[in-house]
Amino acid sequence: MILIDQTAPAAGLAPETASADALAADALARRLDGEIGTHEKLEDRIRIIKDAIPGRVAFSSSLGIEDQAVTHAIATTGAGIDIFTLDTGRHFSETYDTLFETEGRYGTKIRVMYPDAKEVEELVDSDGIYGFRYSVESRKACCDIRKVRPLNRALAGASGWITGLRREQSQGRAHVPFATYDPVQNLIKLNPIADWSLGQLESYIAANKIPINALHAQGFPSIGCQPCTRAIQPGEDIRAGRWWWENENGKECGLHSRNRPAAN
Ligand code: ADX
Ligand code: SF4
Repeated sequence: MILIDQTAPAAGLAPETASADALAADALARRLDGEIGTHEKLEDRIRIIKDAIPGRVAFSSSLGIEDQAVTHAIATTGAGIDIFTLDTGRHFSETYDTLFETEGRYGTKIRVMYPDAKEVEELVDSDGIYGFRYSVESRKACCDIRKVRPLNRALAGASGWITGLRREQSQGRAHVPFATYDPVQNLIKLNPIADWSLGQLESYIAANKIPINALHAQGFPSIGCQPCTRAIQPGEDIRAGRWWWENENGKECGLHSRNRPAAN
């Protein structure tokens, strides 16, 4: 299976085969890709996204530091964006604390998506409770059932999908665009803080007193599921603590791969 990296700019649709709607969405994504970075303030970036995209715009929040900044901007602009999180069932308790605190702070509900119970039961039955440790295939199957499929359900029918991806997070994310049309999901994927440095992000968090996961202060710059995330050492890459036993190149869970099956 060839994974096409959706964190890189799209190559463009072929006008002779794409539908008129897809071509219009692709053109809108290109316009936004050029425009978002011209606005310095995150709140302005969120506003132009919401104003430009017709239909539901959804934001997938992992409740990590990047996403907390985006949630703050969405809440303070009142942009009417659907915020959801994927509860894999394997999160740190600090992540649930962050969810609780964030809902209280902003007086808003974050929609929690769960994996299909039967699929989890079958997975654990066949691979074991720590199956993901023993092969990349098992790890990807776990991420698929616990994250990718619930993501697809959450995005079904949405016109826009906001994430907190940043170019600085890893080499594989170095070319994350601000906006790109995803023909598989038929939506525009938006990464409004793609160009932010960690310093910029931390300043924004501090200036706005945004609640963040307590683990960030304990050496966890990037937080995923508890069994698949550990603290990093000084000087290590931001994502070095994610699936640390795997080869550096393939360390994505599939949420941002362009050939995810379409939502239905
Ligand atoms: S991951 O894909 O390797 O898990 P990372 O933790 O860096 O990615 O998060 C990148 C983006 O993926 C986040 O900004 C968010 O949009 C989305 N994401 C990751 N994990 C979740 C989750 N549990 N729930 C919702 N969105 C998530
Ligand atoms: Fe499963 Fe680990 Fe992926 Fe979480 S990060 S879904 S526990 S393999």
